[in-house]
Amino acid sequence: MTDTTEAHDTAGDHSETRRRFLTAATSVVGVGGVAGVAVPFLGSWNPSEKAKAAGAPVRADIGGIEPGQMVVIEWRGKPVYVLRRTAEQVSDLATLNGDLKDPLSEASAQPAYISGEARALNEELLVIVGLCTHLGCAPKFRPEVGAADMGGDEWLGGFFCPCHGSKFDLAGRVYKGVPASANLEVPPYSFEGENVLVIGVDAEAV
Ligand code: FES
Repeated sequence: MTDTTEAHDTAGDHSETRRRFLTAATSVVGVGGVAGVAVPFLGSWNPSEKAKAAGAPVRADIGGIEPGQMVVIEWRGKPVYVLRRTAEQVSDLATLNGDLKDPLSEASAQPAYISGEARALNEELLVIVGLCTHLGCAPKFRPEVGAADMGGDEWLGGFFCPCHGSKFDLAGRVYKGVPASANLEVPPYSFEGENVLVIGVDAEAV
């Protein structure tokens, strides 16, 4: 079932509960329509808003997400980043291993059926929890190759946490020399058919 009823807090406050219900419903339905609608969530997440409630799985139609485009889907009160990587973005990942703290995610949180540099069931589709593993801020999506403020030519796109400067690549793997020590978490997820992403239900191990 779609996770539309979990509230972050203030149980019993009907207007607040309804507002959150509408927000969650919009985020999921929006992905099915146009895709990138939820990206503005990026600026609104911070540690004080982390929800503690457990919730049902979330289903979203990700068929409309274009290569290079990211959307945010709310799951259990957390922002989950869903990025459809381009072929070049995928092939670049292995070239970064020497710059990363945990390139094969041996000390980072991810399901047993996720492995390798791409950290994904379908290597073009990245699914990660958008909360920094340092202190829980929301990293910003910074896909611009060569961005001057991200290290210039060395930067092949990724995520930047504005709170204390942690950097992650386009698989959510953390760079050396920043405060965060672990890669961004990969949540349990699976697919129903080709285009329905289910966050919160494990894929069968292969
Ligand atoms: S919370 Fe991200 S670097 Fe500190």
